[in-house]
Amino acid sequence: MNMKIFVRTFGCQMNVRDSELVIAQFLNNGYKLTDTIQDADVILFNTCSVRQHAEDKVWSELGRMRQLKKNKSDLIVGVIGCMAKNLENKIIERMPHVDLAVSSNDLANTYDYVEDILNKRQHIVAVDSKQRDKSFYKNLYHWDKKHCYVNISEGCSNFCSYCIVPYVRGMHRSRLADDILKEVKQLIKDKVNSITLLGQNVNDYYSKFKVEGLKVKKINFVDLLELISGIKGIKELSFVTSHPKDIDSRLFDLMVQKKNIKKYLHLPVQSGSNRILKLMNRGYTRKRYFEIIEQYRKKVPNGILATDIIVGFPTETEKDFNETLGLLKEIEFNFSYIFKYSPRPHTKAKDLVDDVSKEEKKRRHGILLSLQKDISRRKRKT
Ligand code: SAH
Ligand code: SF4
Ligand code: F3S
Repeated sequence: MNMKIFVRTFGCQMNVRDSELVIAQFLNNGYKLTDTIQDADVILFNTCSVRQHAEDKVWSELGRMRQLKKNKSDLIVGVIGCMAKNLENKIIERMPHVDLAVSSNDLANTYDYVEDILNKRQHIVAVDSKQRDKSFYKNLYHWDKKHCYVNISEGCSNFCSYCIVPYVRGMHRSRLADDILKEVKQLIKDKVNSITLLGQNVNDYYSKFKVEGLKVKKINFVDLLELISGIKGIKELSFVTSHPKDIDSRLFDLMVQKKNIKKYLHLPVQSGSNRILKLMNRGYTRKRYFEIIEQYRKKVPNGILATDIIVGFPTETEKDFNETLGLLKEIEFNFSYIFKYSPRPHTKAKDLVDDVSKEEKKRRHGILLSLQKDISRRKRKT
């Protein structure tokens, strides 16, 4: 009888893609995918550490696995992804019924680890790789057969002062353009017509590309996007996430020139206050952000615009908050993802006093949410 695997994914689109790549390893080895947790022989939680709340959700799921394991002694429970890297051995120390912890950079061997555990009945913690094995991307399993994610880079070297990502995913690495193009062409052959390129900061993409197999050319994100959009058969091409400090205005020209590039820009601003932006180590000012938005709107009429915002960063005053509120009112994003600041291990901001109270964060969060709700509703009608 076939073994069954169940995977629950938390966090960002990167994790969604990573889950697919891990599932493919198991499908290639005769496993079946199940969406019923009780039926599974292997249960993996692909986790996120970006805020404490994200980890708390996983802890409570893991707690529930204790009983399941009591009823089914062969069951394997694993934690993969960012939380495995953040907490390493601590996951199994706190919950000994967990068998496995695998960081994002070690995922290429997930299937082998599970086999090892089945054979030897021992815990495995694999969290030390600095980068991913290229073979990881060989697998072509996708949940959605029409719209697929393609990673263009891994990790992040921006070190925004609040963010754990550079620690749990490692430094930024661009995938080779030739490998990305090969993957996209294969997807098109498999009748996929919509592709989203993934990177924590797509705009700092940099690679070498063999033109006609002869000359080697250095390319950046805009060049890569142009190459991909030129592949026959792509109906829709999008990308997330963009970073204001690395925006090259040629990007907007390309977005209008190419019909198949989605007119969608996710450009996290995080705060409208220059003082807070500096403390966050974001590398741009409020003024620069407005300039980029103006360029985008001028060049890409009717372009959709989305952002991320953090409220309650250490020392954020009412005045700082009002600057963010003003920015939101002025720009009128189509979508805003608004988060309450959560101190994270390894980060620089962890050393600052988390001095905005829980209630105040909640209040500021609520104000921005309801403003954005009105704006989004209004925008949908126009
Ligand atoms: N790479 C993307 C976003 C990665 S995390 C980028 O740079 O835009 C997604 C969002 O989570 C961030 O944009 C930020 O708004 C939020 N976030 C990250 N760390 C956080 C923290 N410590 N507390 C609250 N929100 C956080
Ligand atoms: Fe985190 Fe900043 Fe990198 Fe985004 S750009 S992943 S917020 S460090
Ligand atoms: Fe979370 Fe890791 Fe993505 S921390 S936001 S799942 S890169």
